[in-house]
Amino acid sequence: MTLPKSFIRVWQLSLISFIIAGITGFLYRYGMLYPLPDGISLANIRHAHSHLMFFNWICPPIMAWMAVAVTEKSDKATLRSFLPCIYTMIVLGFLSYPFFLLYGYHSVAIGPASLPLAAIISGLIMITWYWFAWLYYRERQISSQSLSLTLFDAALIALVISSLGAWGVSVFQFTTIDSPLISSAMTHFFLGVFTEGWVVLGVLGIMWAKFDLPKFSFHSGWLWIPLLFGSMLVFPFSLNRAIITPEMHITANIGLILIAISLSLHLFLMVKHKQVAGFIWKTVAAIITVKIIFQIMAVLPLDIWPGEHGLRVLYLHLLLLGLASIVLVQAIHLNRHKTAKVVFVIAVLLVLISLLFISGYWPPNLMVPDIYWWLMVAALLPLIPAVWLYVLTFQKNKL
Ligand code: HEM
Repeated sequence: MTLPKSFIRVWQLSLISFIIAGITGFLYRYGMLYPLPDGISLANIRHAHSHLMFFNWICPPIMAWMAVAVTEKSDKATLRSFLPCIYTMIVLGFLSYPFFLLYGYHSVAIGPASLPLAAIISGLIMITWYWFAWLYYRERQISSQSLSLTLFDAALIALVISSLGAWGVSVFQFTTIDSPLISSAMTHFFLGVFTEGWVVLGVLGIMWAKFDLPKFSFHSGWLWIPLLFGSMLVFPFSLNRAIITPEMHITANIGLILIAISLSLHLFLMVKHKQVAGFIWKTVAAIITVKIIFQIMAVLPLDIWPGEHGLRVLYLHLLLLGLASIVLVQAIHLNRHKTAKVVFVIAVLLVLISLLFISGYWPPNLMVPDIYWWLMVAALLPLIPAVWLYVLTFQKNKL
């Protein structure tokens, strides 16, 4: 399966978002070493970076792929009916960027009123997710069956459930209950289900849309049910270790084990499948392996806490920049763009290696001198192949 012409513009806008959000990540590293312009804080730069990556880099290509898969038997007009929704989401994503950069979640004075504009635009974006869910659900009634579509169904359930956590935070602000634990738990519930559920199931759906599935002897539910439920249980790991109860810890461990079960089965099928070969797919398989090992280590009594800042940033980028971004680039661009794709993968791996040094688990006696300077340089690397891939999308208007 490939992206049709009408969706190439969506991919181009996603690549532009990756480049802008990547420059913002670079700005964060720059700001750790040199003074930033007045009014720009590191916290707001991080918000602008992570939200643009989530809203415009990750969601549109997964949704575009889902739309193509679910309308495979329908006419082109049905497929095009998804475009207004995806474009509205992208425009809102771009619109939220300057507000996150300048104000974060704080209110902005507009005349006599004071409004949290970035939060309001984020709410509108979540409404476009429901719009997309409705369009997909409508077409799903008449579409065929495949593992890829089942994974997309589960991914969409995760997206909708994750958004409930985000709404919960907003509604909670208007109650009289003053509990940082509940508010923080809802934020991290959103992040956990969004990343481990929506993103992981979505990119696995794309991956299996690229390949014919090898025969397997277990129920296909094992490939998504543990992952979906596990994604809802892991959020306590992102909370402060001191405030979570033993029950929450056990629940989070169960979540990690469930996710590891589904991912191990996907890995098994990938290894069994002869087409999942070559440097890029092997890198994807290696990243899934590292993710599984990391999750198992977090369950074992090794005193590893995934929520610690350095480790958390490394893990999130392993999942979102490593696994998700590589699968998107590899699946969407055809093989004739192989050199640019391989350069992208190498650049991503260098960013991930650079994050290992500040994970908090790297031996201090092996630390690279001026590590934050090297991190700043590494942050620029994926932008070079991203611009290259963007230019390639204009070649004969075909990926
Ligand atoms: C060009 C590639 C990228 C670079 C250079 C980059 C850089 C950064 C930097 C510097 C931070 C702040 C780290 C800190 O707080 O110490 C950060 C945080 C973050 N990034 Fe990225 N990033 C990249 C790709 C991505 C992608 C593709 C995603 C998601 C799709 C992503 C999502 C996030 C999130 C969610 C955070 C917040 C982590 C947290 O503190 O909870 N990043 N990134």
